[in-house]
Amino acid sequence: MSAVRRDLLPDSAWVDGSGSLWIGGCEVTALAAEYGTPLFVYDEEHLRARCREAVAAFPDGAAYATKAFLCGAMALLAHEEGMQLDVATGGELQVALRAGVPADQLIFHGNNKSAYELAMALDVGVRHIVVDNADELDRIEHLHHASGVVAKVLVRLNPAIEAHTHEYLQTGVADSKFGFAVEGGVAADAVRRVKGSAAFEFAGVHAHIGSQVYATSSFAKTIEVLGAFAGDTDASELSIGGGLGVAYVGDEQAPTITQWGEAVRDAAVAAGVNAKITAEPGRSIVASAAVTAYSVGVMKPIAGVRTYVAVDGGMSDNPRPVLYGSGYEAFLARATAAERDLAVRIVGKHCESGDVIVAEAYIPRETAVGDVLVTPVTGAYGHSMGSNYNMVVRPPVVFVRDGFARLVVRRETYDDLVARDLVIG
Ligand SMILES: Cc1ncc(COP(=O)(O)O)c(C=O)c1O
Repeated sequence: MSAVRRDLLPDSAWVDGSGSLWIGGCEVTALAAEYGTPLFVYDEEHLRARCREAVAAFPDGAAYATKAFLCGAMALLAHEEGMQLDVATGGELQVALRAGVPADQLIFHGNNKSAYELAMALDVGVRHIVVDNADELDRIEHLHHASGVVAKVLVRLNPAIEAHTHEYLQTGVADSKFGFAVEGGVAADAVRRVKGSAAFEFAGVHAHIGSQVYATSSFAKTIEVLGAFAGDTDASELSIGGGLGVAYVGDEQAPTITQWGEAVRDAAVAAGVNAKITAEPGRSIVASAAVTAYSVGVMKPIAGVRTYVAVDGGMSDNPRPVLYGSGYEAFLARATAAERDLAVRIVGKHCESGDVIVAEAYIPRETAVGDVLVTPVTGAYGHSMGSNYNMVVRPPVVFVRDGFARLVVRRETYDDLVARDLVIG
């Protein structure tokens, strides 16, 4: 197996004469030595460039879907680059607010927002609440009766579009927990209810068909459905959600954010849509901006079977392989361009046989215990979906740029682990 494909690495990645990987002007092995492993390394300029690309591709509004990766630095960065922020829980809302993002730049999502979360969002004055179901409408009306507050809302439609992606990543099919079904008039009833109630200000409609979608035709189809639906309302905004796929491994290709925007705009023109078209990318902003650096702890050859390479993280910092069977590449930070001639399975340190990082990996035969192994394209849904399983401490995050590393999330400590424990904490 040849060296990892260049475009799977962050924009600023550079391999020096000895084969060592540098990102943002910082050598990855040196970062691993300074901050320890596992370590998330984000190329800050790459993040900023993707945010700017999204704003240019969707000039009526582009919101960064914070579920993909959120910390104070990321919230601020997306805001500085002109993006709004999509938050889907009270926790995401709080992180964005505490980072200093104005509430009117936040869009509040979720399929089961509590009355407490809704009251908090309305109280601070979020830009839009994306209403998802009839119970949520009841809750907002109840809050309106109690305090007079009016919610500016987008109505989330379920357009019944089968995006070509993993079953768990499809959200716009008929059998889904998300949104009001267009079919059968459920969504039309919801819009009528919203427009007829003093508790709401109707702003438009929204759909998110799923994640890791490569076919821009799926988004074009979404615009057709949204446009046809919105034609009968006075929606001033159509949001097509997020979901643009990214390439994770050598044989995958994904459209750029710019191409995605063009396809959506073309579809809107063809469908005669006059409303503003907005979008909420998450993965396509952050995924390939980051790599994870691990240390190799165990090389275990099993004769006639395979070699297991165990690293010092696992499903607690990247649950995607376990959840979706997702594939990744791996390579040595000190020998980035080296031929990868040893077939191995890279696993974590958790007490699960399924704790796999790369099921069928190729790494250089020279790999040894203590080496820094890198998996690229780990910027989305790794850190944010991470856990403390087996009471591991969660890894730190560094942003690198122009030769400087900025620690934006420190490594968790054993004290953090027991801080909420009322017996020993
Ligand atoms: C409503 C909504 N918007 C945006 C996104 C972001 O999707 P992605 O990270 O695939 O771009 C999601 C992801 O689940 C979502 O549910």
